[in-house]
Amino acid sequence: MTKILVTGGAGYIGSHAVVELAQAGFEPIIVDNFVNSETTVLAGLREILGREVPCYRIDCGNAEALHEVFRKEGDIKGVIHFAAYKAVGESVQKPLAYFHNNVGSLITLLQVMKDEGVENLVFSSSCTVYGIPDQLPVTEATPTKPASSPYGRTKQMCEDVVHDSSQAADNTTHTILLRYFNPIGAHESAKIGELPLGVPNNLVPFITQTAAGLRDKLTIFGNDYDTPDGTNVRDYIHVVDLAKAHVVAVQRLLDRKASEVVETFNVGTGHGNTVLEVVKAFEEASGQKLNYSIGPRRPGDVPAIYADATKAAEVLGFKTETSLRDALASAWKWQQSLVR
Ligand code: UFG
Repeated sequence: MTKILVTGGAGYIGSHAVVELAQAGFEPIIVDNFVNSETTVLAGLREILGREVPCYRIDCGNAEALHEVFRKEGDIKGVIHFAAYKAVGESVQKPLAYFHNNVGSLITLLQVMKDEGVENLVFSSSCTVYGIPDQLPVTEATPTKPASSPYGRTKQMCEDVVHDSSQAADNTTHTILLRYFNPIGAHESAKIGELPLGVPNNLVPFITQTAAGLRDKLTIFGNDYDTPDGTNVRDYIHVVDLAKAHVVAVQRLLDRKASEVVETFNVGTGHGNTVLEVVKAFEEASGQKLNYSIGPRRPGDVPAIYADATKAAEVLGFKTETSLRDALASAWKWQQSLVR
């Protein structure tokens, strides 16, 4: 079995990618420092897969520890680098921590991969690199704009690091940058899912926690945008669909099918939904009435963004399979499985 190192493999998207990799016949090896994930995820993975997934509790900024993993495992063929801080608001408060962790760990990883002769990398980027786009939907060729947070800037900088290092004469790394839109939902087994620490920043965990009675009500951040119902538009992709994009990307790198040393793909559904549409779809999927009210705009929110998913479809053969409603149903099932 082909070994793939999954940094941040105990995290929300990483854990779902571990499942999809294993079920596609790969041997995922997790590296995670567990600062924003819990070891219970490993039990969930064991239950889904019926076997233990190897996991190293180390920080990706620790080159020596990473070397050790590559040497011990021996024949790792590729890396999917999820490990990063991801809270937009926190990044405004702790910009240095975000640059150090997100950009620093990528640089460390790239150097270690080169030293160890590992050539294939899939990197977690984000639609946040587009900033407030001039045209919708956004294609991979849509110019990036100033990011609205240090978090967003780390993703832009990481893309730059990958591009610049790929131009070096002695470069050996082949990279696929996946620009995620808004991942939501959980594995159908409800054994793994999103585990937000404290009050969730993101829409769907806030909705499910409100429906579960853990929060009073959802505040919708503004209804005076230039969108069909005035609320923000996003491209919500089921996390299992997103996870599958990584399997396809890794396989493409291993098969040396990539047309360039760095390739970039949007990973979204290609459809935009407003916040109110998400609320309605959640109510239908869960049979719960959601308590919500309209509040002021949230600083830094992009009014509307959704993917042009054509390139991923044509080049990777990747298409999402799960509807918004089913994705929300899976999020609700996961919420109900959590004992809080
Ligand atoms: N929203 C609300 N109320 C809430 C939470 C969110 O109305 O309590 C709205 C937001 O205003 C936005 C939409 O729901 O219109 C989605 O918000 P999220 O916070 O779930 O996600 P964002 O689109 O803001 O995405 C941000 C960054 C991404 C990052 C992502 C995950 O822009 O780069 O958070 O952390 F990947």
